[in-house]
Amino acid sequence: MEDIVGLCKRRGFIFQSSEIYGGYNGFYDYGPLGVELRNNIKQAWWRDFVQCRDDIEGLDSTIIMHPKIWKASGHVDGFSDPMVDCKESKLRYRADQLFFAPVSVDGETIGYVSVVECIDQQEVAEKAAAEMKRKMAKQGELDTIKLKEYTEAKPEQYELIPSPATGKPGSLTEPREFKLMFETKVGPLADDSAVAYLRPETAQGIFANYKNIVDTGRVKIPFGIAQIGKAFRNEITPRNFIFRSREFEQMEIEYFISPSADWKTLHREWIDTCTDWLVSIGLPREGISEDIHPGDKLAFYSQATTDLMFQFPHGEQELWGIACRSDYDLKQHQEHSGKSMTIFDETAKEKYVPHVIEPSLGVDRTLLAVLSAAYTEDEVPNDKGKVEKRILLKFSPKIAPVKAAIFPLLKNKPELVEVAKRLHKKLQRRWNVFYDASGAIGRRYRRQDEIGTPFGITIDFDTIEKDGTVTLRDRDTCEQRRVTEDELIKFLEEQIDG
Ligand code: GAP
Repeated sequence: MEDIVGLCKRRGFIFQSSEIYGGYNGFYDYGPLGVELRNNIKQAWWRDFVQCRDDIEGLDSTIIMHPKIWKASGHVDGFSDPMVDCKESKLRYRADQLFFAPVSVDGETIGYVSVVECIDQQEVAEKAAAEMKRKMAKQGELDTIKLKEYTEAKPEQYELIPSPATGKPGSLTEPREFKLMFETKVGPLADDSAVAYLRPETAQGIFANYKNIVDTGRVKIPFGIAQIGKAFRNEITPRNFIFRSREFEQMEIEYFISPSADWKTLHREWIDTCTDWLVSIGLPREGISEDIHPGDKLAFYSQATTDLMFQFPHGEQELWGIACRSDYDLKQHQEHSGKSMTIFDETAKEKYVPHVIEPSLGVDRTLLAVLSAAYTEDEVPNDKGKVEKRILLKFSPKIAPVKAAIFPLLKNKPELVEVAKRLHKKLQRRWNVFYDASGAIGRRYRRQDEIGTPFGITIDFDTIEKDGTVTLRDRDTCEQRRVTEDELIKFLEEQIDG
Protein backbone atom coordinates (compact mmCIF):
# COMPACT_ATOMS: atom_id res chain seq x y z
CA MET A 1 0.00 0.00 0.00
CA GLU A 2 2.87 2.38 0.86
CA ASP A 3 4.36 1.89 -2.62
CA ILE A 4 1.02 2.66 -4.24
CA VAL A 5 0.37 5.72 -2.06
CA GLY A 6 3.91 6.99 -2.81
CA LEU A 7 3.53 6.49 -6.55
CA CYS A 8 0.10 8.16 -6.54
CA LYS A 9 1.53 11.27 -4.89
CA ARG A 10 4.77 11.36 -6.89
CA ARG A 11 3.08 11.03 -10.27
CA GLY A 12 -0.03 13.09 -9.62
CA PHE A 13 -2.78 10.51 -9.24
CA ILE A 14 -4.06 11.17 -5.72
CA PHE A 15 -3.27 13.76 -3.03
CA GLN A 16 -4.40 14.04 0.57
CA SER A 17 -7.06 16.75 0.66
CA SER A 18 -6.04 20.12 2.16
CA GLU A 19 -2.44 18.97 2.34
CA ILE A 20 -1.01 22.47 2.72
CA TYR A 21 -2.98 22.73 5.99
CA GLY A 22 -1.75 19.39 7.27
CA GLY A 23 -4.34 17.25 5.45
CA TYR A 24 -7.95 16.37 6.25
CA ASN A 25 -8.59 12.81 7.34
CA GLY A 26 -10.92 10.82 5.10
CA PHE A 27 -10.80 13.17 2.10
CA TYR A 28 -8.71 12.84 -1.06
CA ASP A 29 -8.12 14.90 -4.19
CA TYR A 30 -7.48 13.43 -7.60
CA GLY A 31 -4.63 14.97 -9.61
CA PRO A 32 -4.24 15.13 -13.41
CA LEU A 33 -3.69 11.38 -13.92
CA GLY A 34 -6.11 10.35 -11.17
CA VAL A 35 -8.97 12.30 -12.68
CA GLU A 36 -8.36 10.69 -16.09
CA LEU A 37 -8.28 7.21 -14.58
CA ARG A 38 -11.39 7.92 -12.55
CA ASN A 39 -13.27 9.27 -15.57
CA ASN A 40 -12.26 6.27 -17.66
CA ILE A 41 -13.58 3.85 -15.01
CA LYS A 42 -16.87 5.76 -14.82
CA GLN A 43 -17.19 6.00 -18.59
CA ALA A 44 -16.53 2.26 -19.03
CA TRP A 45 -19.20 1.48 -16.40
CA TRP A 46 -21.72 3.90 -17.94
CA ARG A 47 -21.12 2.60 -21.45
CA ASP A 48 -21.39 -1.07 -20.46
CA PHE A 49 -24.31 -0.82 -18.04
CA VAL A 50 -26.35 2.06 -19.46
CA GLN A 51 -25.56 2.81 -23.11
CA CYS A 52 -24.99 -0.79 -24.23
CA ARG A 53 -28.11 -2.13 -22.51
CA ASP A 54 -31.69 -1.55 -23.60
CA ASP A 55 -33.11 -2.23 -20.13
CA ILE A 56 -31.22 0.39 -18.07
CA GLU A 57 -31.78 4.17 -18.02
CA GLY A 58 -29.48 6.82 -16.55
CA LEU A 59 -30.19 9.43 -13.87
CA ASP A 60 -28.38 12.28 -12.13
CA SER A 61 -30.19 13.34 -8.96
CA THR A 62 -29.17 15.95 -6.39
CA ILE A 63 -26.87 15.31 -3.45
CA ILE A 64 -29.14 17.14 -1.00
CA MET A 65 -32.73 15.91 -1.16
CA HIS A 66 -35.85 16.38 0.94
CA PRO A 67 -34.99 15.13 4.45
CA LYS A 68 -38.19 13.04 4.45
CA ILE A 69 -36.48 10.75 1.93
CA TRP A 70 -33.93 9.73 4.56
CA LYS A 71 -36.62 9.27 7.17
CA ALA A 72 -38.56 6.99 4.80
CA SER A 73 -35.48 5.03 3.76
CA GLY A 74 -34.63 4.30 7.39
CA HIS A 75 -31.29 6.13 7.29
CA VAL A 76 -32.21 8.85 9.81
CA ASP A 77 -32.97 6.22 12.44
CA GLY A 78 -30.79 3.33 11.39
CA PHE A 79 -27.71 4.40 9.44
CA SER A 80 -25.00 4.21 12.07
CA ASP A 81 -21.92 2.25 13.06
CA PRO A 82 -21.03 1.03 16.56
CA MET A 83 -18.30 3.27 17.97
CA VAL A 84 -16.00 2.85 20.95
CA ASP A 85 -13.80 5.55 22.51
CA CYS A 86 -10.49 5.22 24.29
CA LYS A 87 -10.90 7.73 27.17
CA GLU A 88 -7.16 8.01 27.64
CA SER A 89 -5.82 8.43 24.09
CA LYS A 90 -9.06 10.06 22.80
CA LEU A 91 -8.87 7.71 19.80
CA ARG A 92 -12.04 6.24 18.33
CA TYR A 93 -12.62 2.79 16.88
CA ARG A 94 -15.39 1.06 15.04
CA ALA A 95 -16.49 -1.60 17.49
CA ASP A 96 -17.01 -4.09 14.67
CA GLN A 97 -13.41 -3.54 13.55
CA LEU A 98 -11.94 -3.92 17.02
CA PHE A 99 -11.26 -7.48 18.15
CA PHE A 100 -10.51 -8.92 21.57
CA ALA A 101 -9.80 -12.30 23.13
CA PRO A 102 -9.20 -13.64 26.62
CA VAL A 103 -5.68 -14.92 27.17
CA SER A 104 -5.69 -18.15 29.15
CA VAL A 105 -3.00 -20.52 30.24
CA ASP A 106 -4.14 -24.09 30.89
CA GLY A 107 -7.71 -22.85 31.18
CA GLU A 108 -6.97 -19.98 33.59
CA THR A 109 -7.71 -16.46 32.18
CA ILE A 110 -4.75 -14.17 32.86
CA GLY A 111 -5.90 -11.09 30.90
CA TYR A 112 -7.16 -9.87 27.53
CA VAL A 113 -5.63 -8.77 24.23
CA SER A 114 -7.14 -6.43 21.65
CA VAL A 115 -6.30 -5.69 18.04
CA VAL A 116 -7.66 -3.35 15.34
CA GLU A 117 -8.82 -5.23 12.21
CA CYS A 118 -5.85 -5.93 9.95
CA ILE A 119 -4.58 -8.56 7.56
CA ASP A 120 -2.56 -10.41 10.24
CA GLN A 121 -4.77 -9.72 13.27
CA GLN A 122 -4.65 -13.33 14.52
CA GLU A 123 -0.85 -13.30 14.48
CA VAL A 124 -0.69 -9.89 16.22
CA ALA A 125 -3.07 -11.10 18.95
CA GLU A 126 -1.12 -14.36 19.47
CA LYS A 127 2.15 -12.44 19.83
CA ALA A 128 0.59 -10.09 22.37
CA ALA A 129 -0.78 -13.08 24.32
CA ALA A 130 2.64 -14.80 24.37
CA GLU A 131 4.20 -11.55 25.59
CA MET A 132 1.63 -11.26 28.38
CA LYS A 133 2.34 -14.85 29.48
CA ARG A 134 6.09 -14.15 29.46
CA LYS A 135 5.75 -10.92 31.47
CA MET A 136 3.52 -12.59 34.03
CA ALA A 137 5.96 -15.55 34.22
CA LYS A 138 3.12 -18.04 33.82
CA GLN A 139 4.02 -21.69 33.30
CA GLY A 140 1.85 -23.89 31.06
CA GLU A 141 0.26 -23.92 27.63
CA LEU A 142 -1.39 -20.87 26.10
CA ASP A 143 -4.94 -21.74 25.02
CA THR A 144 -6.04 -20.94 21.45
CA ILE A 145 -6.72 -17.24 20.92
CA LYS A 146 -10.29 -16.83 19.64
CA LEU A 147 -10.84 -13.26 18.49
CA LYS A 148 -14.32 -11.74 18.80
CA GLU A 149 -15.72 -8.37 17.70
CA TYR A 150 -15.87 -5.78 20.49
CA THR A 151 -19.62 -5.56 19.79
CA GLU A 152 -19.86 -9.05 21.29
CA ALA A 153 -18.07 -8.11 24.52
CA LYS A 154 -20.09 -8.47 27.73
CA PRO A 155 -20.44 -5.33 29.91
CA GLU A 156 -18.23 -6.84 32.61
CA GLN A 157 -15.45 -7.30 29.99
CA TYR A 158 -15.25 -3.59 28.92
CA GLU A 159 -13.05 -2.78 31.92
CA LEU A 160 -10.74 -5.75 31.25
CA ILE A 161 -10.05 -5.34 27.54
CA PRO A 162 -6.95 -3.22 26.81
CA SER A 163 -7.17 -0.23 24.49
CA PRO A 164 -5.12 -0.84 21.32
CA ALA A 165 -3.78 2.71 21.76
CA THR A 166 -2.35 2.32 25.28
CA GLY A 167 -2.15 -1.46 25.68
CA LYS A 168 -3.79 -1.01 29.11
CA PRO A 169 -7.28 -2.07 30.21
CA GLY A 170 -9.86 0.28 31.66
CA SER A 171 -10.09 3.09 29.12
CA LEU A 172 -12.46 1.67 26.48
CA THR A 173 -16.10 2.74 26.59
CA GLU A 174 -19.02 0.50 25.78
CA PRO A 175 -20.02 0.60 22.08
CA ARG A 176 -22.61 3.20 21.10
CA GLU A 177 -24.28 3.98 17.80
CA PHE A 178 -22.66 6.77 15.80
CA LYS A 179 -24.73 8.38 13.01
CA LEU A 180 -22.94 8.35 9.69
CA MET A 181 -24.92 10.97 7.79
CA PHE A 182 -23.45 14.45 7.44
CA GLU A 183 -25.97 17.12 8.42
CA THR A 184 -26.30 20.56 6.93
CA LYS A 185 -28.90 23.37 7.04
CA VAL A 186 -30.86 24.52 4.01
CA GLY A 187 -32.36 28.02 3.75
CA PRO A 188 -32.07 31.16 5.89
CA LEU A 189 -33.46 29.65 9.11
CA ALA A 190 -30.98 27.84 11.30
CA ASP A 191 -33.54 25.87 13.32
CA ASP A 192 -34.26 22.12 13.28
CA SER A 193 -36.71 22.45 10.39
CA ALA A 194 -33.77 23.43 8.15
CA VAL A 195 -31.79 20.23 8.81
CA ALA A 196 -30.92 18.30 5.65
CA TYR A 197 -28.39 15.61 4.82
CA LEU A 198 -25.64 14.96 2.32
CA ARG A 199 -26.67 11.69 0.70
CA PRO A 200 -24.91 8.61 2.11
CA GLU A 201 -25.81 6.58 -1.01
CA THR A 202 -27.00 7.50 -4.50
CA ALA A 203 -29.67 4.77 -4.35
CA GLN A 204 -32.36 6.91 -2.70
CA GLY A 205 -32.16 9.47 -5.52
CA ILE A 206 -33.14 6.61 -7.83
CA PHE A 207 -36.07 5.47 -5.68
CA ALA A 208 -37.26 9.06 -5.32
CA ASN A 209 -37.25 9.42 -9.13
CA TYR A 210 -38.59 5.96 -9.92
CA LYS A 211 -42.11 7.30 -10.53
CA ASN A 212 -40.84 10.05 -12.87
CA ILE A 213 -39.00 7.48 -14.96
CA VAL A 214 -41.90 5.02 -15.04
CA ASP A 215 -44.29 7.84 -16.00
CA THR A 216 -42.00 8.96 -18.83
CA GLY A 217 -43.20 5.71 -20.37
CA ARG A 218 -40.05 4.17 -21.83
CA VAL A 219 -39.53 1.34 -19.39
CA LYS A 220 -40.95 -2.17 -19.08
CA ILE A 221 -40.34 -4.60 -16.20
CA PRO A 222 -37.60 -5.78 -15.71
CA PHE A 223 -35.64 -2.54 -16.02
CA GLY A 224 -32.94 -0.65 -14.19
CA ILE A 225 -32.04 2.93 -13.31
CA ALA A 226 -28.34 3.75 -12.98
CA GLN A 227 -26.60 6.66 -11.35
CA ILE A 228 -23.03 7.75 -10.73
CA GLY A 229 -22.47 10.35 -8.05
CA LYS A 230 -20.89 11.50 -4.81
CA ALA A 231 -21.88 10.04 -1.47
CA PHE A 232 -20.83 11.18 2.00
CA ARG A 233 -20.43 9.23 5.23
CA ASN A 234 -18.93 10.48 8.44
CA GLU A 235 -16.89 7.28 8.80
CA ILE A 236 -15.56 6.77 12.34
CA THR A 237 -12.23 5.41 11.12
CA PRO A 238 -11.54 6.30 7.48
CA ARG A 239 -8.47 4.28 6.50
CA ASN A 240 -6.50 2.34 3.96
CA PHE A 241 -6.05 5.30 1.64
CA ILE A 242 -9.10 5.78 -0.61
CA PHE A 243 -10.63 2.43 0.43
CA ARG A 244 -12.80 3.98 3.13
CA SER A 245 -13.17 7.75 2.92
CA ARG A 246 -15.74 10.27 4.04
CA GLU A 247 -16.46 11.66 0.58
CA PHE A 248 -16.53 9.08 -2.21
CA GLU A 249 -18.38 8.25 -5.38
CA GLN A 250 -20.75 5.40 -6.13
CA MET A 251 -21.97 3.73 -9.33
CA GLU A 252 -25.32 2.20 -8.48
CA ILE A 253 -28.10 0.41 -10.32
CA GLU A 254 -31.55 -0.32 -9.00
CA TYR A 255 -32.86 -3.17 -11.16
CA PHE A 256 -36.65 -3.48 -10.80
CA ILE A 257 -38.20 -6.93 -11.16
CA SER A 258 -41.61 -8.54 -10.72
CA PRO A 259 -42.37 -9.70 -7.14
CA SER A 260 -43.00 -13.17 -8.60
CA ALA A 261 -39.70 -13.25 -10.53
CA ASP A 262 -37.07 -15.80 -9.56
CA TRP A 263 -34.95 -13.24 -7.68
CA LYS A 264 -32.35 -15.77 -6.59
CA THR A 265 -31.48 -16.61 -10.22
CA LEU A 266 -31.49 -12.93 -11.21
CA HIS A 267 -29.26 -12.13 -8.24
CA ARG A 268 -26.83 -14.83 -9.40
CA GLU A 269 -26.85 -13.39 -12.94
CA TRP A 270 -26.01 -9.94 -11.59
CA ILE A 271 -23.14 -11.33 -9.51
CA ASP A 272 -21.69 -12.96 -12.64
CA THR A 273 -22.22 -9.86 -14.82
CA CYS A 274 -20.48 -7.67 -12.23
CA THR A 275 -17.56 -10.10 -11.88
CA ASP A 276 -17.10 -10.19 -15.67
CA TRP A 277 -17.12 -6.39 -15.78
CA LEU A 278 -14.35 -6.14 -13.19
CA VAL A 279 -12.29 -8.57 -15.27
CA SER A 280 -13.01 -6.48 -18.40
CA ILE A 281 -11.34 -3.44 -16.81
CA GLY A 282 -8.24 -5.41 -15.91
CA LEU A 283 -8.78 -7.02 -12.49
CA PRO A 284 -7.53 -10.61 -12.25
CA ARG A 285 -10.45 -13.06 -11.91
CA GLU A 286 -8.50 -15.00 -9.28
CA GLY A 287 -8.31 -11.85 -7.10
CA ILE A 288 -12.13 -11.64 -6.90
CA SER A 289 -14.20 -13.77 -4.53
CA GLU A 290 -17.74 -13.78 -3.15
CA ASP A 291 -18.89 -13.13 0.39
CA ILE A 292 -22.48 -14.14 1.09
CA HIS A 293 -23.83 -12.19 4.06
CA PRO A 294 -25.31 -14.42 6.74
CA GLY A 295 -28.89 -13.59 7.71
CA ASP A 296 -27.96 -11.84 10.97
CA LYS A 297 -25.43 -9.54 9.23
CA LEU A 298 -27.77 -8.28 6.49
CA ALA A 299 -28.38 -4.52 6.19
CA PHE A 300 -31.79 -3.45 7.46
CA TYR A 301 -33.25 -3.30 3.93
CA SER A 302 -31.74 -6.49 2.51
CA GLN A 303 -33.25 -9.90 1.65
CA ALA A 304 -29.88 -11.29 0.49
CA THR A 305 -26.50 -9.69 -0.18
CA THR A 306 -23.38 -11.01 -1.83
CA ASP A 307 -20.27 -8.84 -1.85
CA LEU A 308 -17.64 -9.18 -4.52
CA MET A 309 -14.42 -9.13 -2.54
CA PHE A 310 -11.05 -8.12 -3.90
CA GLN A 311 -7.55 -8.90 -2.71
CA PHE A 312 -6.49 -5.33 -1.78
CA PRO A 313 -2.97 -4.68 -0.40
CA HIS A 314 -4.47 -4.49 3.11
CA GLY A 315 -6.38 -7.78 2.71
CA GLU A 316 -9.48 -9.21 1.09
CA GLN A 317 -12.21 -6.59 1.35
CA GLU A 318 -15.59 -5.62 -0.10
CA LEU A 319 -15.50 -4.01 -3.52
CA TRP A 320 -19.03 -4.39 -4.90
CA GLY A 321 -22.20 -5.03 -2.91
CA ILE A 322 -25.00 -6.82 -4.77
CA ALA A 323 -28.14 -6.73 -2.65
CA CYS A 324 -31.71 -7.90 -3.08
CA ARG A 325 -33.63 -5.05 -1.45
CA SER A 326 -37.12 -6.57 -2.06
CA ASP A 327 -39.81 -3.85 -2.28
CA TYR A 328 -38.62 -2.28 0.98
CA ASP A 329 -37.58 1.13 -0.39
CA LEU A 330 -40.45 1.70 -2.81
CA LYS A 331 -43.02 0.63 -0.19
CA GLN A 332 -41.43 2.96 2.36
CA HIS A 333 -41.58 5.90 -0.08
CA GLN A 334 -45.14 4.98 -1.06
CA GLU A 335 -46.16 5.09 2.59
CA HIS A 336 -44.27 8.27 3.51
CA SER A 337 -45.08 10.28 0.35
CA GLY A 338 -48.60 9.01 -0.20
CA LYS A 339 -47.74 8.50 -3.92
CA SER A 340 -48.37 5.16 -5.58
CA MET A 341 -45.20 3.28 -6.54
CA THR A 342 -47.01 0.61 -8.53
CA ILE A 343 -46.24 -0.23 -12.13
CA PHE A 344 -48.51 -1.99 -14.65
CA ASP A 345 -46.80 -5.08 -16.00
CA GLU A 346 -47.96 -5.36 -19.64
CA THR A 347 -46.86 -8.99 -19.98
CA ALA A 348 -48.36 -10.32 -16.74
CA LYS A 349 -51.31 -7.87 -16.96
CA GLU A 350 -51.02 -6.98 -13.32
CA LYS A 351 -50.18 -4.00 -11.15
CA TYR A 352 -47.61 -4.21 -8.35
CA VAL A 353 -44.79 -2.51 -6.49
CA PRO A 354 -41.65 -4.10 -7.99
CA HIS A 355 -38.81 -5.69 -6.09
CA VAL A 356 -35.26 -4.58 -6.69
CA ILE A 357 -31.76 -5.97 -7.11
CA GLU A 358 -29.02 -3.44 -6.37
CA PRO A 359 -25.43 -3.71 -7.61
CA SER A 360 -23.60 -0.91 -5.78
CA LEU A 361 -19.96 -0.16 -6.55
CA GLY A 362 -17.58 2.52 -5.24
CA VAL A 363 -15.59 4.43 -7.87
CA ASP A 364 -12.70 5.10 -5.48
CA ARG A 365 -12.56 1.49 -4.31
CA THR A 366 -12.53 0.31 -7.94
CA LEU A 367 -9.71 2.74 -8.65
CA LEU A 368 -7.73 1.37 -5.70
CA ALA A 369 -8.36 -2.19 -6.90
CA VAL A 370 -7.24 -1.25 -10.42
CA LEU A 371 -4.09 0.43 -9.05
CA SER A 372 -3.28 -2.54 -6.80
CA ALA A 373 -3.72 -5.04 -9.64
CA ALA A 374 -1.68 -2.89 -12.05
CA TYR A 375 1.28 -2.13 -9.74
CA THR A 376 4.27 -4.20 -10.85
CA GLU A 377 8.01 -4.16 -10.30
CA ASP A 378 10.29 -5.93 -12.75
CA GLU A 379 13.73 -5.67 -14.31
CA VAL A 380 14.49 -4.56 -17.87
CA PRO A 381 17.67 -3.51 -19.72
CA ASN A 382 18.31 0.25 -19.97
CA ASP A 383 19.69 2.17 -23.04
CA LYS A 384 23.16 0.79 -22.32
CA GLY A 385 21.94 -2.80 -21.94
CA LYS A 386 22.34 -2.81 -18.13
CA VAL A 387 19.46 -4.48 -16.28
CA GLU A 388 17.53 -2.02 -14.08
CA LYS A 389 14.57 -2.24 -11.75
CA ARG A 390 11.43 -0.60 -13.12
CA ILE A 391 8.03 0.23 -11.67
CA LEU A 392 5.10 -0.05 -14.03
CA LEU A 393 1.33 0.12 -13.87
CA LYS A 394 -0.20 -2.56 -16.08
CA PHE A 395 -3.49 -0.76 -16.73
CA SER A 396 -5.82 -2.14 -19.36
CA PRO A 397 -5.66 0.25 -22.40
CA LYS A 398 -9.42 0.75 -21.92
CA ILE A 399 -8.95 2.64 -18.64
CA ALA A 400 -5.30 3.79 -18.75
CA PRO A 401 -5.16 7.57 -18.07
CA VAL A 402 -2.74 8.17 -20.95
CA LYS A 403 -3.27 5.87 -23.90
CA ALA A 404 -0.04 6.44 -25.81
CA ALA A 405 3.07 8.62 -25.65
CA ILE A 406 4.65 10.06 -28.79
CA PHE A 407 8.38 10.62 -28.82
CA PRO A 408 10.64 12.18 -31.46
CA LEU A 409 13.89 10.18 -31.13
CA LEU A 410 15.87 13.45 -30.82
CA LYS A 411 14.47 16.81 -29.77
CA ASN A 412 17.02 18.85 -31.76
CA LYS A 413 16.05 17.38 -35.15
CA PRO A 414 13.21 19.56 -36.47
CA GLU A 415 12.17 16.95 -39.07
CA LEU A 416 11.57 14.35 -36.31
CA VAL A 417 9.86 16.87 -34.03
CA GLU A 418 7.53 18.05 -36.80
CA VAL A 419 6.30 14.53 -37.65
CA ALA A 420 5.94 13.63 -33.96
CA LYS A 421 3.95 16.80 -33.20
CA ARG A 422 1.67 16.26 -36.18
CA LEU A 423 0.95 12.66 -35.10
CA HIS A 424 0.40 13.81 -31.51
CA LYS A 425 -2.16 16.42 -32.64
CA LYS A 426 -3.93 13.82 -34.78
CA LEU A 427 -4.19 11.20 -32.00
CA GLN A 428 -5.11 13.84 -29.41
CA ARG A 429 -8.41 14.45 -31.18
CA ARG A 430 -9.48 10.92 -30.22
CA TRP A 431 -7.57 9.89 -27.11
CA ASN A 432 -5.63 11.29 -24.19
CA VAL A 433 -2.07 11.02 -25.52
CA PHE A 434 1.18 12.60 -24.39
CA TYR A 435 4.08 14.23 -26.24
CA ASP A 436 7.53 13.97 -24.69
CA ALA A 437 10.79 15.06 -26.31
CA SER A 438 13.09 15.47 -23.31
CA GLY A 439 15.75 13.02 -22.09
CA ALA A 440 17.12 9.73 -23.32
CA ILE A 441 14.49 7.56 -24.98
CA GLY A 442 14.86 4.81 -22.35
CA ARG A 443 14.11 7.27 -19.55
CA ARG A 444 11.10 8.58 -21.45
CA TYR A 445 9.75 5.02 -21.79
CA ARG A 446 10.31 4.45 -18.07
CA ARG A 447 8.39 7.62 -17.11
CA GLN A 448 5.41 6.39 -19.14
CA ASP A 449 5.66 2.83 -17.75
CA GLU A 450 5.34 4.26 -14.26
CA ILE A 451 2.04 5.99 -15.08
CA GLY A 452 0.73 2.97 -16.99
CA THR A 453 0.78 4.29 -20.58
CA PRO A 454 0.31 1.10 -22.61
CA PHE A 455 1.92 2.24 -25.88
CA GLY A 456 5.03 4.22 -26.82
CA ILE A 457 5.32 5.57 -30.36
CA THR A 458 8.75 6.72 -31.52
CA ILE A 459 9.46 8.78 -34.61
CA ASP A 460 12.98 8.01 -35.79
CA PHE A 461 15.12 8.35 -38.90
CA ASP A 462 13.42 5.45 -40.67
CA THR A 463 10.15 7.35 -40.30
CA ILE A 464 11.40 10.44 -42.13
CA GLU A 465 13.98 8.93 -44.45
CA LYS A 466 12.55 5.55 -45.44
CA ASP A 467 8.97 4.37 -45.25
CA GLY A 468 7.09 6.61 -42.81
CA THR A 469 6.68 3.76 -40.30
CA VAL A 470 6.97 4.42 -36.56
CA THR A 471 8.20 2.23 -33.71
CA LEU A 472 5.39 0.92 -31.52
CA ARG A 473 6.51 -0.24 -28.06
CA ASP A 474 4.49 -2.41 -25.70
CA ARG A 475 4.70 -1.31 -22.04
CA ASP A 476 4.52 -4.79 -20.50
CA THR A 477 6.84 -6.76 -22.79
CA CYS A 478 8.98 -3.80 -23.98
CA GLU A 479 8.74 -5.38 -27.44
CA GLN A 480 9.01 -3.02 -30.38
CA ARG A 481 7.76 -3.32 -33.94
CA ARG A 482 7.41 -1.02 -36.91
CA VAL A 483 3.94 -0.06 -38.11
CA THR A 484 2.50 2.34 -40.66
CA GLU A 485 0.30 5.19 -39.44
CA ASP A 486 -2.86 3.40 -40.65
CA GLU A 487 -1.85 0.20 -38.86
CA LEU A 488 -1.10 2.21 -35.72
CA ILE A 489 -4.53 3.84 -35.66
CA LYS A 490 -6.34 0.56 -36.31
CA PHE A 491 -4.32 -1.09 -33.52
CA LEU A 492 -5.07 1.72 -31.03
CA GLU A 493 -8.78 1.59 -31.92
CA GLU A 494 -8.90 -2.15 -31.21
CA GLN A 495 -6.94 -1.92 -27.98
CA ILE A 496 -8.53 1.19 -26.48
CA ASP A 497 -12.08 1.23 -27.80
CA GLY A 498 -12.48 -2.56 -27.91
N1 GAP B 1 -26.86 1.59 -1.76
C1 GAP B 1 -26.19 0.54 -1.09
C2 GAP B 1 -24.93 0.94 -0.48
O1 GAP B 1 -24.59 2.10 -0.44
P1 GAP B 1 -22.79 -0.01 0.70
O2 GAP B 1 -22.30 -1.42 0.83
O3 GAP B 1 -22.89 0.80 1.94
O4 GAP B 1 -24.21 -0.12 -0.01
C3 GAP B 1 -21.77 0.28 -1.66
O5 GAP B 1 -21.88 0.76 -0.35
C4 GAP B 1 -20.34 0.44 -2.16
O6 GAP B 1 -19.91 1.79 -2.01
C5 GAP B 1 -19.31 -0.39 -1.41
O7 GAP B 1 -19.25 -1.71 -1.90
C6 GAP B 1 -18.04 0.37 -1.69
O8 GAP B 1 -17.54 0.04 -2.97
C7 GAP B 1 -18.52 1.82 -1.71
N2 GAP B 1 -18.32 2.48 -0.40
C8 GAP B 1 -19.13 2.42 0.68
N3 GAP B 1 -18.63 3.16 1.69
C9 GAP B 1 -17.48 3.70 1.23
C10 GAP B 1 -16.49 4.58 1.80
N4 GAP B 1 -16.61 5.07 3.03
N5 GAP B 1 -15.42 4.94 1.03
C11 GAP B 1 -15.29 4.46 -0.23
N6 GAP B 1 -16.20 3.64 -0.81
C12 GAP B 1 -17.27 3.27 -0.10
